[in-house]
Amino acid sequence: HRGYANLARQFSGEGAQIACQMQSIDELRHSQTQIHTLSHYNKHFTGLHDPFHMHDNVWYLSVPKSYFDDARSAGPFEFITSISFAFEYILTNLLFVPFMSGAAHNGDMATVTFGFSAQSDESRHMTLGLEIIKFIVEQHEDNLEIVQGWIDKHFWRAYRVLGLVSAMQDYMLPDSPMSWKEAWDIYFVDNCGALFKDLGRYGLRMPKFHEQATAEAEHLSHQIYFTLYQFSHAAAFQTEIPSKEKMDWLSEKYPNTFDKYYRPRWEMYAEMEKQGKRYFNAGLPQLCQVCQVPMCFTEISKGKPLDLSYRLSEFKGDKFHTCTDACKAIFDHEPEKYSHAWLPVHQIFQGNCGGAEISDVLKNYHFNPEDSGEYKGSADDIAWRATKGESNDIEESA
Ligand SMILES: [Fe+2]
Ligand SMILES: [Fe+2]
Ligand SMILES: [Zn+2]
Repeated sequence: HRGYANLARQFSGEGAQIACQMQSIDELRHSQTQIHTLSHYNKHFTGLHDPFHMHDNVWYLSVPKSYFDDARSAGPFEFITSISFAFEYILTNLLFVPFMSGAAHNGDMATVTFGFSAQSDESRHMTLGLEIIKFIVEQHEDNLEIVQGWIDKHFWRAYRVLGLVSAMQDYMLPDSPMSWKEAWDIYFVDNCGALFKDLGRYGLRMPKFHEQATAEAEHLSHQIYFTLYQFSHAAAFQTEIPSKEKMDWLSEKYPNTFDKYYRPRWEMYAEMEKQGKRYFNAGLPQLCQVCQVPMCFTEISKGKPLDLSYRLSEFKGDKFHTCTDACKAIFDHEPEKYSHAWLPVHQIFQGNCGGAEISDVLKNYHFNPEDSGEYKGSADDIAWRATKGESNDIEESA
């Protein structure tokens, strides 16, 4: 809402001013419905008691925060191309349609309330984005490659944010009606394919690195959720090994990848847990300098899904690491900007997050001890079972 309020002041045409002012007010409305949902859930679940402080400090929340900060610290035309087009037009259907339907499917009506309210006017958001990029491109032929560059960059930035959604959709919904891969095929491959066919007459092309995002669709949720599983001792939510039913569903939805690459790892973790060695990663992960996601991605587009993927850039005598060719291209185009990124892990190592021990950092994040760790036997697990009238015998064993 701040970004659009700035634009409403900066743009000179009345039409653009009014459209941006309305968008700003609507974004405030989105915030209010989301905060209402948070306050509702805060009565029932752990980890939601201080969302604003957490948003500005916690490592996994720096992924979305850094994307929106990136857009908001760009010029007005790049900002609007980023949010209204690359995010709203190309990618938000993936968030609001399959993910919110998943919430409804599981009886999560508080999420549905804000999700469907957002989705109901998403067509207005999208129209704004589409008209804006057409307008900019029509003004001067030199604008085409500039706008294409912004689309390429912000598509990738926003896509990396949605990696968190892929894990929620495939692993964290008790019962998932649609996999990330299925949603990607419908809402990106089909819908955006058609959109860019249409935009071809303006000379605009599919975002660069879209093939890589599509190649990742069979791996993304697994790699992200493995990361969350390993680090949930430092998160304000808990994770667990997927149930047998969930793993069978994942095998069915990911026939090319799940049984081959990911099931064996879950089985190994399950074995470790049985021996009383539930796996938590004791180190701090290296973060991508651009998307800020822990370096959990692999060389999928090179056909090596077991090789970790990372790239290196040098700028003013320092080394900067990125997760992919796509994030490296973004860094190399604007190294002055990204070399300044506020990276949570670097901040911890530099002593800016409360201390040297994980417990110091979690205190600094305002986490409570019951917010983190293994889900089975957690306060949330016990409360959830009680709500559903299920037996709580796990309580004794925990
Ligand atoms: Fe809206
Ligand atoms: Fe929107
Ligand atoms: Zn990255």
